[in-house]
Amino acid sequence: MRHFLSLKDYEKSELLEILSAAAEMKRDLKADKAKPKLKGKSLAMIFEKSSTRTRVSFEIGAGQLGMRPIFLSSRDIQLGRGEPMKDTARVIGRMVDMVMIRTYAHERLEEFAAYSSAPVINGLSDDFHPAQLMADYMTMQELGYDDRAVVAWIGDGNNMANSWMMLASKMGFELRVATPKGYEIAPKWAELAKNFADKSGAKLYFYNDPIEAVKGAGVVATDVWISMGQESEREKRLKDFAGFSVTSELLSLADRKAILLHCLPAHRGEEITDETFESCAESIFLEAENRLHAQKGIMVWLDAAK
Ligand code: CP
Ligand code: NVA
Repeated sequence: MRHFLSLKDYEKSELLEILSAAAEMKRDLKADKAKPKLKGKSLAMIFEKSSTRTRVSFEIGAGQLGMRPIFLSSRDIQLGRGEPMKDTARVIGRMVDMVMIRTYAHERLEEFAAYSSAPVINGLSDDFHPAQLMADYMTMQELGYDDRAVVAWIGDGNNMANSWMMLASKMGFELRVATPKGYEIAPKWAELAKNFADKSGAKLYFYNDPIEAVKGAGVVATDVWISMGQESEREKRLKDFAGFSVTSELLSLADRKAILLHCLPAHRGEEITDETFESCAESIFLEAENRLHAQKGIMVWLDAAK
């Protein structure tokens, strides 16, 4: 049995299998030929943080696969009243076929997975958002990018930045990460990604200047400056991230045909201007749509790996 907690645990060939299953299911769905590949199975979705895309994509995706999804907010289940993660895992793992969890510390997810008899999918933790990155790479593939891409990450060294590092270092593309000083990628993840990059041929570069990172890039990616759980740091972060907004001026330094990816939700006037966001809406909302197809790819792959 495999879990899907971070791209660091996956080989490139496995990620490509998931992506190819996702692309096939997207084609089938568009042709009105979707097959309920996981008919009669169930998916528990535990949310300790808010969500729009992750909830809808997993819940609707599971339904399209013939599964029964069940939405569990930590506000409503005993987990939110202090029932240990490992007890919740042993109960839910015995009752359902698959579990998706959105939580804070990545260790909570690992603890759940260690005690769960059903495969566990990371629906975002403080460290990683791998389900999102599958949709991001799927979007890149659809728009003509592959492992020769040059991607610039502009913003926080957060869960999305960590996940981009894992994706780049596994797939073998070039990733340039630009963060303000003090908001760099955690050294343990940067080191791990460098080890993977030695094997895959990925190039990883780190800057404190968005202009350096964006020059000639084919894909520009960004995310909020204040992630869920960091609300009390808002004032300080807004000051520290000055100059890291993706403006049309910054984007004009990227490749002429560059696409922009944003996992959403976006905070216009902070990490991105309204003008840039709206001019790149096509790639951003294709990325959001691909959550549905990519999450189905993950569920079908995990079920087959059992
Ligand atoms: N991108 C993403 O995970 O969105 P939600 O927080 O709405 O699920
Ligand atoms: N970095 C953001 C991503 C939201 C999908 C957060 O963790 O809030």
